[in-house]
Amino acid sequence: MILANTRQELLEQLADWRQHDDRIALVPTMGNLHAGHLSLVELAREHAERVVVSIFVNPTQFSEDEDYADYPRTLERDTRRLKKPAADLIFVPDVDTMYPFGVKDATTVCVPRITDNFCGASRPGHFDGVTSVVARLFALVQPDVAIFGQKDYQQQLVIRHMSQDLNLPVKIITGETFREKDGLAMSSRNQYLSEEDRAKAPALFKVLSAVGTDLQSGRRNFEELEAKSVAKLSDAGFAVDYFSIRRALNLEIPDRDCDELVVLAAVRLGRARLIDNIVITI
Ligand code: PAF
Repeated sequence: MILANTRQELLEQLADWRQHDDRIALVPTMGNLHAGHLSLVELAREHAERVVVSIFVNPTQFSEDEDYADYPRTLERDTRRLKKPAADLIFVPDVDTMYPFGVKDATTVCVPRITDNFCGASRPGHFDGVTSVVARLFALVQPDVAIFGQKDYQQQLVIRHMSQDLNLPVKIITGETFREKDGLAMSSRNQYLSEEDRAKAPALFKVLSAVGTDLQSGRRNFEELEAKSVAKLSDAGFAVDYFSIRRALNLEIPDRDCDELVVLAAVRLGRARLIDNIVITI
């Protein structure tokens, strides 16, 4: 496994693989890897001969009051974890490598509309930071495929939109959400949960799943289901940011006949902000 910190180290290795016609998959991450990330690496391996995992805590997707400074940076452990399933190359750039003109003068890629609601509304500027860094990673690595997790449902839709709109020659693949045994979606931020909040956290997936069952059984009173779920979560001690049933394709408000729905939620428990979702195909 190769560790590349600079643009040149990365490009030299990629050029070598391309000479051999190897397909390249990219798994962009911010590190602090857990089993969910490793499942994305395994999925990447199914689609390409070479797998690049990027580890970069991207400053432009954090607002000033968020956890950029404290975000767990665990490179040594991440590198060990990436031995199995194996990444061929770990790309660990610094901020200057990713933003050669500096963060303040960086070109921003901004996807409109689909970023207006949900995490886009609660975290202003967040998706501009995500699309800007992902576009930069795509430009550097020029992957044939790139893998993103379903847990960040809105993020993967935004990246699909960007790639399609800019005609980027990369196939976006979404990997399933990986869960703890009690249903909590794996996330690097779960470690912010206190012991007491960790015990409450699985209720989020239970409430999402209950709505999934209602939708599968034909219920279409979306607003009522949302309001009931918000009440359940609030009673269980969550501060609900959003809980919404939307069209899976584009996050628009569904009509009764919509046969692919996503139930999306973001909540706060103490210091931790948890997001999760389930997709329902009828
Ligand atoms: O999902 C993440 O970890 C990040 O938003 C990403 C896609 C690596 C961009 O920094």
